[in-house]
This record gives sequence, C-alpha cells and structure tokens, in this order.
Amino acid sequence: MDFLTLSSDIFGLDIGDLSLKIAFLKKKGKKIQLKAYGEKKVPIGLFSRGEIKKQEEVIKIIRQFVKELKIRTPYVVSVLPETKTFIKTIEIQSLVKENILESIKKEIQLYIPFKIEEIYFDWKIISERVNKTKILVGVSPKHIVDSYLFVLKNAGLKPVSLEIESIAILEALLDKKEKFLKPLGIIDLGATRSSLIIVDEGIVQLTISLPLAGAVLTQSIADELKISFDQAQKMKIDFCKGEKNEVVEKKVNLFFENLTQSLINHLKFYEESSKRKIEKIIVCGGGANLPGLIPYFEKNLNIETIKGNPWVNILEKPPIPEDKSLIYTTALGLALRALQEKI
Ligand SMILES: Nc1ncnc2c1ncn2[C@@H]1O[C@H](COP(=O)(O)OP(=O)(O)OP(=O)(O)O)[C@@H](O)[C@H]1O
Ligand SMILES: [Mg+2]
Repeated sequence: MDFLTLSSDIFGLDIGDLSLKIAFLKKKGKKIQLKAYGEKKVPIGLFSRGEIKKQEEVIKIIRQFVKELKIRTPYVVSVLPETKTFIKTIEIQSLVKENILESIKKEIQLYIPFKIEEIYFDWKIISERVNKTKILVGVSPKHIVDSYLFVLKNAGLKPVSLEIESIAILEALLDKKEKFLKPLGIIDLGATRSSLIIVDEGIVQLTISLPLAGAVLTQSIADELKISFDQAQKMKIDFCKGEKNEVVEKKVNLFFENLTQSLINHLKFYEESSKRKIEKIIVCGGGANLPGLIPYFEKNLNIETIKGNPWVNILEKPPIPEDKSLIYTTALGLALRALQEKI
C-alpha cells in the first residue's frame, strides 16, 4: 500500500545559479519509473558562483517549485556546487583504520586552500593493497554545506544527502552494465559554470572548472549586438534549432575554439602525469546541444566524442527529447543516488 512506502520516497534536486531541476524516480519491482521532473529558472543574483546570496528568496523558490511539481515527500538528495567542492583520490600507507582519518586529514591539507576546521569531508576506500590504500575524498567548506542545508530545511525539506556534482553526473552517465575502465573525460557545459571531470578505472580522478559556460556565450552575443541578455539567449536557442545567424555562429565558433584550447591543456596535463591516454569524451549539460560541438571536439581533440545519455541506467526509452535530457543529467544522477538511500 502506498502510504507504507510514502516515507521512503526521495527525490533529486539540482541547484544551479540560474536554475533548479527536479527528477523524482521510483522503483516498481525491478523497473524504475519517472514520477516527476521539471526545471525552474532562478533570477540572477540569488546565487553567485554557487554561494547563496539571498537566502529567503532561495527558500521561497525551492518551496514553490516542489509544490508546483506536487511532490509530497520531504526527503531530498541535493547537490553542492562544483566550484565549491573538491574531490581527489589519495593514496596512504596505513591500513590501520584508526590512522586512516588522521592520514586523510594530513594528505588533503596539501591540496585544499582551507584549514581542516573549516571543511567537511567524506571518504571512501577504493582499493586496499599492502602498504597502499586508495581513498576517494570529497571536501567542501563548512559554511557552504551549512547554507545549503539551511535553505533546504527552511523550504520544508529533509535533506538525506548532499552530493558532489561530478559523482552525480557519473552515476547518470556511466552505463552500469558496461564497466568502462579506461580514462575518459566528461564535460558538463552549464549556464554559469562548466567542468571537466576525469574518470579513470570508473572513478572520478579530478575535476577542473572551466571558465567558459552558456551564459558567457550568451553575454558575448548580447555585447556584440548591443541587445539584452534575454534577447541574446533567444537568438542563441533559435540558432541551435537551425535558424541562420552570422553573429551567433561567429561567437559559437569562438566559444568552441577557446573551450577546446583549455581542454587540450587539461587533458594533456592528466595524460602526462598519469601516463594514460583519454579514450573517450562524453558531453552533457545544456551546452552539449550547441550544433557542431561534437564533430569539432572529435576533430580538434582527436578523441571519440559522444553526447551523454542520462537515462542509460534508468529507462530504455527516454521519456523526453535528447536536448532536454542533457540538462537533467545531474538531477537524474541525484535521483539515482536517492534510490540507493534508505531512510
Ligand atoms: N537546446 C539548447 N541549445 C543550446 N544551448 C542550450 C540549449 N538548452 C540549454 N542551453 C544552454 O545551456 C545552459 C544551461 O545548461 P544547464 O541547464 O545544463 O545549466 P545549469 O546546470 O543550470 O547551470 P550551472 O551548472 O552553471 O548551474 C544555458 O546557457 C542555456 O542557454
Ligand atoms: Mg549543471
């Protein structure tokens, strides 16, 4: 009976600077069903680079959004902003459990610009060999985690966990049936931020924030044509749907060039330091819809490139078109994590 299972329903909520997205999955036997999904635009200024700037307004908009989608469970798996989290695989010598924590603390201090008292961290053992324990560590500043928890709770929700975005993206895009162990790069092209996630042996090795994202492209079109951001945004989307526009085309090509240059440097760095070659690129986020992006990457990065399919672990037949699906990658990854949580 439904009322017995109601309390264990958990939905996924992706929080970005310019939009919120919900994906709510439910298990029926072995099958997964999509119960609800949606996107809500967030006005400029409520967030800045992942930091909550206007708490009351963020609380209001989350509350409204959940209500609009008629979601009745308060349990949610949400996400921390990629720019304010840090993920790294470390290797430590010790196998003694009590010493692991101290070793992790010592090791991560080398990589983060915060004091250990200022952060929360979470970790998972990946492999254990004599004298060598591989551990995946996720870190975020306390004030960021606390502010996300604060708005979620005040919006009437019960956060079950806050994920690191790259982990959620991986959950959505890597086909669980096909263990891909070779190095691959996932590129998430968002509105205010983009990131390159390097995955090797099925695990996130590192994430890199890229300074180029959809809103930067839109703004460059607005500046060139001296029109508003919203007008430029419409022009960009029309161009993506096939409408001819020389200015937009020029800006899109420039965007590809800059993005590719930055990717070449980061990929080269990983390949040289790990001595492993990136074998595949998967692109997700709204920017993955820019026409010509996939062949441009294939040609200039010289790596097989595909668009991600965030339904791969959920449904055989995607219920929404590909361009829409790509913007729900994180939300669907969070919803998949939610299915694994127990409350
Ligand atoms: N069909 C499309 N063609 C081209 N660009 C698109 C399309 N749909 C969305 N975009 C662009 O993608 C961006 C939004 O992508 P997405 O929803 O993945 O970002 P986000 O996750 O909200 O942003 P962020 O991760 O920065 O918080 C916007 O810049 C938008 O203009
Ligand atoms: Mg995003």
